[in-house]
Amino acid sequence: MSLRILHFSDVHLPFPAGAFRTPEILHPKRLVALVNFYLRRGSKYAEAFQKLNGLREFLAREPVDYLLYTGDTLNFGLEREFTAGAPRLIETLALARQGSLAVPGNHDLYARSSLALHRKHFAPLYRTDLPEAATPTGYPIVRWMGDDAVAIAFNTSRPCLPFWDSSGRVPSLELDALDRLLDFPEIAVRRHIFLMTHYPFDEHGYFHGLRNSRALLRILRGRDNLVLLHGHNHRPYTHLVPGTGIPLYCAGSLSKAGGESFWLFDLFGDSLNARHGAWRNARFTLVE
Ligand SMILES: [Fe+2]
Ligand SMILES: [Fe+2]
Repeated sequence: MSLRILHFSDVHLPFPAGAFRTPEILHPKRLVALVNFYLRRGSKYAEAFQKLNGLREFLAREPVDYLLYTGDTLNFGLEREFTAGAPRLIETLALARQGSLAVPGNHDLYARSSLALHRKHFAPLYRTDLPEAATPTGYPIVRWMGDDAVAIAFNTSRPCLPFWDSSGRVPSLELDALDRLLDFPEIAVRRHIFLMTHYPFDEHGYFHGLRNSRALLRILRGRDNLVLLHGHNHRPYTHLVPGTGIPLYCAGSLSKAGGESFWLFDLFGDSLNARHGAWRNARFTLVE
């Protein structure tokens, strides 16, 4: 049986009018980020809604069985951003023929108050096919993908107070749960296990990387049926995790002007064929 899976990330939808008319904007980290946004960042993602529509149009031309999304839908995790942006993302994920799976990014869980907002506005994304494997955080989340494949999402994003700290971390509860989950017989026998999170699995930089990436990689080594998917870095790439045969794919950003991207995977038995999607002539297309 063949399966088609599309992985995208880092949509960074523009914030709606009036989003800043809230005391929440006085959070010191948000004030610094707001200046940065206006000076450098915002214009690159100004057409994010058009790019999301472009993805929908691509899916109408090239239907996929599953959509996998690795986070950063918003910019500052403000309530008005959730109310405006969450329905658009959820509608898009519903376009997959069989199902979808998503995790939050650090910009979605920007401040402590964003945690509850994410649970409320992205509630459908917390549904799991294997509730007994989830910790009290709701993760890991499992999505069966036919008889041969499965996707597993775990959360590495968290609110960090200092504006210079955008590091991620796998909560130790989730790390232990993931370790056990990968040994579940109904998981271990699958030919393709897509493991997905927002932060790069193999970057442990203290302020921008995944703080406990070494502990994570330790539990992944020696498993030859894994495919690692992440976002956070806004440029697409793929490589084997050093010292292993495990392929890793960064989707880049769906909406960054001049660098719009996603990955499309076709599974046939043991083989995995990956192609890169890019924005050309005002539409998404597959490039070699
Ligand atoms: Fe991002
Ligand atoms: Fe990010």
